[in-house]
Amino acid sequence: MSDHSAPPNPLDGLALETLAVRAGHHRTEQGEHSEPIFTTSSYVFDSAEQAAARFSGEEAGNVYSRYTNPTVRIFEERIAALEGGDDAVATASGMSAILSTCMALLASGDKIVCSKSVFGTTTVLFTKYMKKFGVDVEFVTLTDISAWENAVCSKTKLLFAETPSNPLCDIADIQALKKVAQSCDALLVIDNCFCTPALQTPIALGADLIIHSATKYLDGQGRCMGGAVVGSFALMDEVRGFLRSCGPTMSPFNAWVCLKGLETLAIRMQAHSQNAMALATWLDAQESVETVFYGGLTDHPNHALAAKQQSAFGGVLSFKVKGGKAEAWQVINHTQFLSITANLGDTKTTICHPATTTHGRLSDEDKKQAGITDNLVRVSVGLENIHDIQHDLQRGLSLI
Ligand SMILES: Cc1ncc(COP(=O)(O)O)c(C=O)c1O
Repeated sequence: MSDHSAPPNPLDGLALETLAVRAGHHRTEQGEHSEPIFTTSSYVFDSAEQAAARFSGEEAGNVYSRYTNPTVRIFEERIAALEGGDDAVATASGMSAILSTCMALLASGDKIVCSKSVFGTTTVLFTKYMKKFGVDVEFVTLTDISAWENAVCSKTKLLFAETPSNPLCDIADIQALKKVAQSCDALLVIDNCFCTPALQTPIALGADLIIHSATKYLDGQGRCMGGAVVGSFALMDEVRGFLRSCGPTMSPFNAWVCLKGLETLAIRMQAHSQNAMALATWLDAQESVETVFYGGLTDHPNHALAAKQQSAFGGVLSFKVKGGKAEAWQVINHTQFLSITANLGDTKTTICHPATTTHGRLSDEDKKQAGITDNLVRVSVGLENIHDIQHDLQRGLSLI
C-alpha cells in the first residue's frame, strides 16, 4: 500500500523565535547558509513542453518574478509560519497588501465594515478608490461591538481592523469581531502591523486574513518598503492571482532585507515594548502631558483586553500635550535626535504629528471621529537608551 502522507515538516512544533530565524529557507544545491537573493525577472525552462506546463500550472515552479521568486517565497513561508497561517503573499508595500486583498476578494456591490481607527491611507483607499468601483464602506468605532453588529448586512464581505490602532492604541476584541464576521459570512481582516506575530497572532483568535506593512517592524530598521497578506491556501490563491495580473510585487532584495529583520523580530519586539512602557509611564507623570495612550498603562480603557490578547504592549504610543497644535509642534521641534518622520517600527525612535501627517488627508469631521486632535503626538519608541529618549522629549515639554 502506498503512503500518501506528506513528509514530516522539520519545523513543526518549533517556537516563534526559531521559525523567525529558520522557516522558509530550503537550502539550494550550493549549500548556502544565509538566504540567497535571486535577482532574476524570469526563469528558463528545459523545453517548450516544460514552459507550457509551467504556464498552465500543470507543473509547479517559477515562471516570472511578478508572482513567484525564490527569495520572496522564503519571506512568504516565514511570515505564514510566524502568523500560523497556511500561506502568505508578499507585496510591494502594506498598502498594496490591503489593495490586493480588496481587489482579489471583493466585487461591486460588496461592503467593507472598517474601524474608524485605521491608518489614514487605508481610509483613503476605501473611501476614494474602493467606493469608485462600487464597494461600499462603513466606519465604526473599533471597540464598540454593537456598532459592528449594526453595520454588517448580507453584502458585507470584509471586516477590517487594526489592533492596537494607529495612533491611539485602542484594542479590538478579535474573538468578538470574529463572531460578528461569522454572522454575515464575512472575512475578518486584522492589520497586525503594530504587534507583529511576536506579540499577537490574530489567526489563533479567529481572524481569516492578516495584513502587514513589512515596512514597519518586520524589516524593523526603516530600510525598505514591503507588505504581506497571510491566510488560507484558498484565499492566498486569489490574492496571488491578483498579483500575477496586476503586479504590486515585493522585490527579492526587499524580501531579503525583511528576512534579515525577521531574524531579530522576537527580541526587538520585547525591547521596543520595554522602552515604550517606560516612556509611557514617564510621560504620564509629566505636568505638560494631558493624556497618554498606551495599552500597557493600567488606566488605558482596553488594558485588560490588551493583556489577554498580546504578550506585550508594543512600541507605539501617543500622547496629548496641554494646548494645541503649537504646543505639539514645539515638543516635536525641540527634539535633537528623535527622527521627525511618519514611519514607525524602527530601531530609531520616530515622532510625528498625526493630524498634519499620517491623518492629514482626513476631513476635520473624520479626524474628530478617529480621535486625531491637534495636540496629539505619536512616538514609535526605538531601541535607544530610554533616558536619552526622555531627555529629548523633555526639552519641548518643559516649555509648555
Ligand atoms: C497600521 C498600518 N497599516 C498599513 C500601513 C501601510 O503600509 P506601507 O506604508 O508599507 O504601505 C501603515 C503605514 O504606516 C500602517 O501604519
